[in-house]
Amino acid sequence: MAPRRPLICGNWKMHRTVGQALELATAVRNALGGLSREVEVAIAPPFTALYAVARRLQGSPLRLAAQDCFWEPEGAFTGEVSAEMLRDVGCTYVILGHSERRQHFGELDAAVGLKARAALRAGLCPIICIGETLAERDAGETYGRLKSQLEGALAGFSPDMVAGLVVAYEPVWAIGTGRVATPQQAQEAHAFVRQHLHQHFGEVAQSVRIQYGGSVKPDNAAGLLRQPDIDGALVGGASLQAESFLDIIRACRPPDREAT
Ligand code: PGA
Repeated sequence: MAPRRPLICGNWKMHRTVGQALELATAVRNALGGLSREVEVAIAPPFTALYAVARRLQGSPLRLAAQDCFWEPEGAFTGEVSAEMLRDVGCTYVILGHSERRQHFGELDAAVGLKARAALRAGLCPIICIGETLAERDAGETYGRLKSQLEGALAGFSPDMVAGLVVAYEPVWAIGTGRVATPQQAQEAHAFVRQHLHQHFGEVAQSVRIQYGGSVKPDNAAGLLRQPDIDGALVGGASLQAESFLDIIRACRPPDREAT
């Protein structure tokens, strides 16, 4: 089986106007150079900037991601944006089930599953976020939580569908807190996720990329990204500055290339 190509995705959350987004996207695009040969790189600006940024990225290997989508292709759903619309505007990825959406907007696993199906139907690659809270970790419920989130979101999925998605393990206690999981904690969770996918969907689990997210910074990225089951990162705060984002991408190169 071909090695998994790591994916580093910057989640800009509700930051940046169109003008600011163009500036940041351009800085990342211009500095990417040969880095994108070994690592796939994406940015997820807010909806309002997607079209302008897509145009700016034409011809570049830098990919575009959205931060959410609705599951219907079109209709009377005020305020929502469909996966087809995101594809039309130039997105390749869509982040789904982020813990902020679960926490502030009551998003449940079943909705994440419907959105992921919609994304696949539209030709997008869903990035499905899962992760435990601090209380769940302290109570020894981390794996139970990850299991129920995966089962809820991927109910009825075929191995082919699973082959088309990315999972992001983001412990809620590490998001935006500066408190990062240790490489060992993250690797254990990632190995659990891969094993779970293997149990339910078979061999395809070996090719599914599992990103880590939660306070990834230039100084902790290499340790995390060297773990065998960590296939990239979903980066929040550190993706809002081109230099720190690029440093994280550089940290993702295989160890034998680090000196070059
Ligand atoms: P953070 O956010 O890097 O700022 O912790 C990660 C995320 O929310 O995806």
